[in-house]
Amino acid sequence: MALTGVRRGIRWGLRHGLVKRAVGQRMKAGEPTAALMLDPAMNIDPFPAYDDLRDRGRLVSNGIVLNTAHHDMATAILRSPDFGVVGGPSGRAAGVFAALARLGGHGPLGPAEPPSMLSTDAPDHTRYRKLVTRAFSARAVAGLRTRTEEIAAELLDGLAAAGPDADLIDDYASLLPATVIAEMLGAPLEMRRQFLEWGAGAALSLDAGLSWKDFQRSERDIQALQDWMTGHFEQIRRHPGDNILSALVHAHSADGRLTEDELTSIAMLLLAAGFETTVNLIGNGAALLTAHPDQLAALQADPSLWPNAVDEILRFDSPVQRTGRMCQRDAVVAGESVHAGSLVVIMLGGANRDPAKFPEPDRFDVARAGAGEHVAFSSGIHYCLGAGLAKMEGEVGLRALFDRFPDLSPAGPPHRRPTRVLRGYDAMPVRLTATVDA
Ligand code: HEM
Repeated sequence: MALTGVRRGIRWGLRHGLVKRAVGQRMKAGEPTAALMLDPAMNIDPFPAYDDLRDRGRLVSNGIVLNTAHHDMATAILRSPDFGVVGGPSGRAAGVFAALARLGGHGPLGPAEPPSMLSTDAPDHTRYRKLVTRAFSARAVAGLRTRTEEIAAELLDGLAAAGPDADLIDDYASLLPATVIAEMLGAPLEMRRQFLEWGAGAALSLDAGLSWKDFQRSERDIQALQDWMTGHFEQIRRHPGDNILSALVHAHSADGRLTEDELTSIAMLLLAAGFETTVNLIGNGAALLTAHPDQLAALQADPSLWPNAVDEILRFDSPVQRTGRMCQRDAVVAGESVHAGSLVVIMLGGANRDPAKFPEPDRFDVARAGAGEHVAFSSGIHYCLGAGLAKMEGEVGLRALFDRFPDLSPAGPPHRRPTRVLRGYDAMPVRLTATVDA
């Protein structure tokens, strides 16, 4: 037991403690990119800091990593064969750090740790992605639209019955994508709330510089999800169904295309990505549309604008704010030289506010031309597998919500979730109908 704690402590020290210390020192010295990483105030409004970063250059070093908030640079790096994901071979520790990493051991299979699709490059990445691409194709997503509309209608019936007040995140925005992905994967619906709780812990692990307490919580929740998942695989082996998890288990057991860790990692990533991301799109969208009644009125007058509005929400308030890439060999990218081994933090949320790409970027405009050119889903080989699904869910979910409750209004301040990579709300009190003056 004591040894487990020591190993966990080593893992925390290597992945978070050292970063927290180094970045904390730079934050004290007034370095804005360090504040973006550690200062909780940045969770509320990171956009001025992105503007500042963009003004300082296309690739800005803070002494630890390079940073960019330029759209062309972000896209070029994400698509460049000279860059790989952070968990890849070029991102692995050497020397004393490697020895410590061995001592720290593996811990549970986090969403961004190898062999996760998010942190592997080709050829393994290609092999994982091939197994699940078809289930998320445009055709498959189109086939899920009617069922998603039914789920939205059922949830809205529940809100109407319990009204007039609701928590839009708890009662709607989280449950809609959670129900869709649980049905797609063949995971039990009665576990949705439990998945959401474990998912919130897993989401923490995406941030660098976690506190010891948050790190412990995230490892505990990921382990619980992993234990549940391996138990569920046993059930699937006995009673396979027509769903994604059954197909993955088959790929593992029948023809050995996946190891046990790869199977578990892909299954957990799909579940967690399905639970933890689209909730932010729906929540951020509801907040933006209630704050901009003229934009909501434009959608009510012309519902054909909805798909563009979803892209504008993704651009304006991106649910995934950043990602990272490691330079694998000395390279020139978008005209800038980068050395092998450099880590670049790509501020997706900042690139989406780049005025060189989006004129008047701080204006929320559901009819904006070119809104869909955002990098909210990344770009290149790791482009979000669930992008089509998320956009469909966002469109169906937001449209159904405002069709049913056109006067939806805030009933108190919404609360931002504490995560930095994932940007959304964890509470949003609303009144479903307009209050009538006494
Ligand atoms: C609004 C909702 C969503 C947003 C903003 C989003 C964003 C992203 C981003 C930015 C990446 C790439 C990260 C990188 O390049 O390092 C990604 C990858 C991924 N997303 Fe999503 N995502 C969303 C919804 C979903 C959904 C619903 C699923 C499916 C269940 C999903 C599954 C995945 C998977 C499996 C990857 C890894 C792809 C790869 O590495 O090849 N996402 N997502």
